[in-house]
Amino acid sequence: MKNPIVVTLLSSVWLTLAPISYAATVEGLLESYRSQGAQEFSIQRGEQLWMTEYGGRSCGNCHTEHPKAQGKHQKTGKPIKPLAPSINSERLSNAKTIKKWLKRNCKWTLGRECSAQEKGDFLTWLQTQ
Ligand code: HEC
Repeated sequence: MKNPIVVTLLSSVWLTLAPISYAATVEGLLESYRSQGAQEFSIQRGEQLWMTEYGGRSCGNCHTEHPKAQGKHQKTGKPIKPLAPSINSERLSNAKTIKKWLKRNCKWTLGRECSAQEKGDFLTWLQTQ
């Protein structure tokens, strides 16, 4: 027998908890970027960095301009699931994965590793998507 009240309660608990998983992961990373000297992070700056072309390359080359959209790897043509945690709940939930890909993708896109400030700005913006 399904009890609609229990179902409603459970789904609202789920909805409340779901965003917390990536928020805690991102906050942990932001904390470590701050300890490396980064200043306050900015959603706006994160979006600007995302839209910027670095010698013809940008994050959107593979992820599109919209983190909510499905991306496509520029070289291999492989589909890339949306980065936005609102669409893809697996995103931004694993610090190791985030670090690994930010390192790789910054090198590919900017031709160097991103600074702690830049990484924090990217994540601060991406987590709102
Ligand atoms: C050459 C293609 C390419 C470019 C350019 C690129 N990415 Fe990615 N990115 C990937 C691939 C491939 C993955 C890992 C596959 C997957 O998770 O679907 C990934 C994963 C990520 C993740 C991991 C998210 C998670 O929690 O799973 C983040 C964050 C990310 N990219 C940010 C960026 C940012 C910021 C830029 C620009 C500096 C960027 N990417 C540019 C290909 C790219």
